[in-house]
Amino acid sequence: MYPPRCFSGRFLYHRFARQFLKIRISPGDAHLRIDYTLRMDDMEEKQKYMRRAIELAWGGMGYASPNPMVGAVIVKGGRIIGEGFHRRCGELHAERDAFAHLTEDAAGAEMYVTLEPCCHYGKQPPCTLAVVEHGIRKVYIGSRDPNPLVSGKGAAFLRENGIEVIEDFLREECDRLNPEFFHFISTGKPYVVMKYAMTADGKIATKTGDSKWITGEAARKNVHMERSRYAAILAGIGTVLADDPMLNARIDTEETHGGFLEGYDVTLPDPVHQPVRVIADAHLRIPMESNVVKSAREYRTIIVCAEAEEEKKRQLTEAGAEVLVLPGEDGEVSLTKLMEYLGENRIASVYIEGGGTIHEAAVRAGIVNRVSAYIGPKVFGGRDAKTPVEGSGFARVANSMQLRLTGLHRLGEDVWLEYEA
Ligand SMILES: NC(=O)c1ccc[n+]([C@@H]2O[C@H](COP(=O)([O-])OP(=O)(O)OC[C@H]3O[C@@H](n4cnc5c(N)ncnc54)[C@H](OP(=O)(O)O)[C@@H]3O)[C@@H](O)[C@H]2O)c1
Repeated sequence: MYPPRCFSGRFLYHRFARQFLKIRISPGDAHLRIDYTLRMDDMEEKQKYMRRAIELAWGGMGYASPNPMVGAVIVKGGRIIGEGFHRRCGELHAERDAFAHLTEDAAGAEMYVTLEPCCHYGKQPPCTLAVVEHGIRKVYIGSRDPNPLVSGKGAAFLRENGIEVIEDFLREECDRLNPEFFHFISTGKPYVVMKYAMTADGKIATKTGDSKWITGEAARKNVHMERSRYAAILAGIGTVLADDPMLNARIDTEETHGGFLEGYDVTLPDPVHQPVRVIADAHLRIPMESNVVKSAREYRTIIVCAEAEEEKKRQLTEAGAEVLVLPGEDGEVSLTKLMEYLGENRIASVYIEGGGTIHEAAVRAGIVNRVSAYIGPKVFGGRDAKTPVEGSGFARVANSMQLRLTGLHRLGEDVWLEYEA
């Protein structure tokens, strides 16, 4: 960390906070310049604590939903004296979890919390009360809470009680933890991610429907992490018939995690969270011997149809699956009604894993919030090979779905692109 170029004079090297600082002193304003540099160093130290809180927050991946993932760190005299995170919906909030793990009295300490502390009675009492009661001196907040019950009120309550509050601290990084919560709390509908793996020429399967594998191991690991992150995974019956997938999350929790957890030392919950599997299958064509049906007692499974043939419905229910009838106007499953149903049942996010027909229906229904696109170094060619979004498509560029690139990562030989819709 170096001071600005405008500094002149000779260089001093000063060891501080486990790193060398380069300080230029010009006569008359030495104090000012040293102070500036120390403050920059102080800032790095504080960012390190907030990053630790972010790391902790990821420990609630999948299980915290429909609540947000939140982490908290309590610091006194340059030492972390308490750490916590929101492990599971209904359990302790991050701030109270950090207080439960204190190694010494928190009076006069600073707290770093990735989301504005709550100030209302829900399943848990308000965290702001605990912060005041423990005599915390200063609170650094990452994300603002769009929940109307909290928004701005948590920070205001702390200030009214004499606590210094710094808001928007590493906000962008903290916000990345919870886009699904932000969407769900303000709309009541699940946050929808459209995911596909395609070749360099934009195909998700060959003309015969073969799609294993387009991407390499690192990308596939990241997909399993995404499956675990989101509350539900949705696939069309075409994919079930073609690939007979399990649609569960298979993650080695002992491994270090790349992809969207790159740079964080995260301890994932063990076992990892499994998404609810949802299959759009208008006419209940799903085979009883498919992997999804055979494992329906182990992983919650919802088969959504447009009309339920009673005998097949009975067999599926007996196998452990739930059967839901949500007809759309076109004889297919209504994705709009499905999102309403999932939202009402507090399923806050959906990861759509194809294929192209169901993707097109999702784009047409206007429910896609994010696109997760993996590109493998292969070319399939062929006008009959499958593409990520089928159907007849948009007629004009001006009317197409507009995206904003939010992530560009290399995963082995593959590229992973993230877009906000
Ligand atoms: N590379 C990848 O990332 C990836 C991922 C997944 C799949 N794939 C490949 O994609 C291919 C399968 O894709 P696909 O397009 O044939 O099938 P799909 O999108 O998985 O399923 C489409 C089917 O879902 C049913 N459905 C129910 N409600 C619907 C609705 N509202 N809108 C649209 N469909 C609805 C319809 O069948 P009913 O009318 O019978 O209900 C429809 O034919 C396979 O070859 C698979 O390997 C690739």
